[in-house]
Amino acid sequence: MLEDAHLNKYAVGSFNVYNFETIKGVLESADELKKPVIVAFGEKYLDNMDPETVYAVVNSLSKNIDTPVALHLDHCKSFDHIIQAVRAGFTSVMFDGSSLDFKENLKRTGEITSIAHAVGVTVEAELGALTLGEYSNEDDGRQIYTDPDQAEEFVSETKVDALAVSIGTVHGMYKGEPKIDIDVLKAISSKIETPLVLHGGSGTPEATIRECISNGICKINVNTEISMYTVNKVKEALKSDTNYHLSKISLMEVKYIKEVVEKYMDMFYGA
Ligand code: 13P
Repeated sequence: MLEDAHLNKYAVGSFNVYNFETIKGVLESADELKKPVIVAFGEKYLDNMDPETVYAVVNSLSKNIDTPVALHLDHCKSFDHIIQAVRAGFTSVMFDGSSLDFKENLKRTGEITSIAHAVGVTVEAELGALTLGEYSNEDDGRQIYTDPDQAEEFVSETKVDALAVSIGTVHGMYKGEPKIDIDVLKAISSKIETPLVLHGGSGTPEATIRECISNGICKINVNTEISMYTVNKVKEALKSDTNYHLSKISLMEVKYIKEVVEKYMDMFYGA
């Protein structure tokens, strides 16, 4: 999926899911727009769903969809959770060693990659770290831009299939104007062929997204805005009518989730 995106200069959308409504919304958007999609489930949401259930729901809802669907484990720090996701049928996993020092991140990513590759599962890793914007559900981090020389050594040693880079996007909504360092991205792209991933898609302006895609980004992650937009819309609806049946709220959620996912899909894949 990412190789095709790399070659044809677009980015595959990776959208976070944690319940039936988010999975349905993401898959219906991909089906309607006829675009490949990555359904991303983060370790953070293990209290909401377990990997086997995520796999079963994604598998069932994607049966009649023609477009390619990948099931990805997003941000995972635990070796055990990675193995559980692989066992459940996830097609790719992200080992997030961004809080470790460079050598330890490299060592642990390399170990996980060799295990995942043995069973045909691809691996994303992260080098550098993203800071936290507003309304995010991710862990707090200190902004550390990815070092292009370290990126070159890291991918050559670990053999990862995709690398998440830190170039100024944040997890959550931006507090002010986003300050994206395209020169860092260009320097990384000039050194490695590995598909690059942009985390913190929520609220990133379209022009920035396009610039990132033309400089090597092949996968873009979106989480916060889907949740924030949908919660606000449901809140508004409940203000005018407090007698909603839960089944109607579920349908409403899917509708609003799709509005955000489709907005980003239009930006990522081009017109
Ligand atoms: P946002 O919540 O900022 O969209 O970031 C999502 C993300 O990077 C998930 O891995």
